[in-house]
Amino acid sequence: MTEPVEVRAGPLLLRPWRPGDAPAVLAALTDPATRVWSNPGRVATLDDARWWVARRADWSGGEIAAWAVADAGTGELLGSVNLHSIDRDQGDAEVGYWTVPAARGRGVAPRAVDAAVRWGFAVLPVDRVELVHAVENPASGRVAEKAGFTFEGRLRRSYRYGDGVKRDELLWARLADDDVPDLSTRS
Ligand SMILES: CC(C)(COP(=O)(O)OP(=O)(O)OC[C@H]1O[C@@H](n2cnc3c(N)ncnc32)[C@H](O)[C@@H]1OP(=O)(O)O)[C@@H](O)C(=O)NCCC(=O)NCCS
Repeated sequence: MTEPVEVRAGPLLLRPWRPGDAPAVLAALTDPATRVWSNPGRVATLDDARWWVARRADWSGGEIAAWAVADAGTGELLGSVNLHSIDRDQGDAEVGYWTVPAARGRGVAPRAVDAAVRWGFAVLPVDRVELVHAVENPASGRVAEKAGFTFEGRLRRSYRYGDGVKRDELLWARLADDDVPDLSTRS
């Protein structure tokens, strides 16, 4: 696996997580929607957040490539994006993401997802990336659509979310040769 790297995506910078991000992560993960839909595990203290960050800063296991999504101009932390469940034999991976509440509604997640997926196609490489979200979380479905994913189906009661409820999910995927406009070049 490659060492953690930066990826530029227009006004966004995807950069490796660093220990100093722990307080901002702790604050971000108090958001109820993020806790339920991203299911980040128990992150209740600064130590929990340090552990969360350290796990994502370590790409050595080969199964995850994770970035902090920052404003490229100010450095402000806007969100998180990762490729996880990376399977080199099968050539596939899954994408996960959240944005901080103050950054929502301006296309941060679709742009970050597009950039992470393009990186995965070019560097890992994989040729298929899956995106899965709860049926009750349509905002995430909009991210999938905007980042060029194709809807593939409904998974019945397939994942236990952060509120402890097992829910149906919608499965989307993007293939390396899908014709998708590069969001990093959009203003
Ligand atoms: C889902 C999420 C990642 C979207 O991120 P984003 O950077 O706001 O993405 P976009 O700006 O493209 O907005 C996507 C949709 O979110 C909704 N939205 C817009 N403004 C919003 C706001 N201020 N607050 C909440 N949702 C908003 C809209 O439905 C929008 O779709 P539209 O563009 O068709 O109106 C973000 O709401 C989030 O982090 N949610 C909690 C964690 C989560 O669901 N992660 C994904 C798990 S699969």
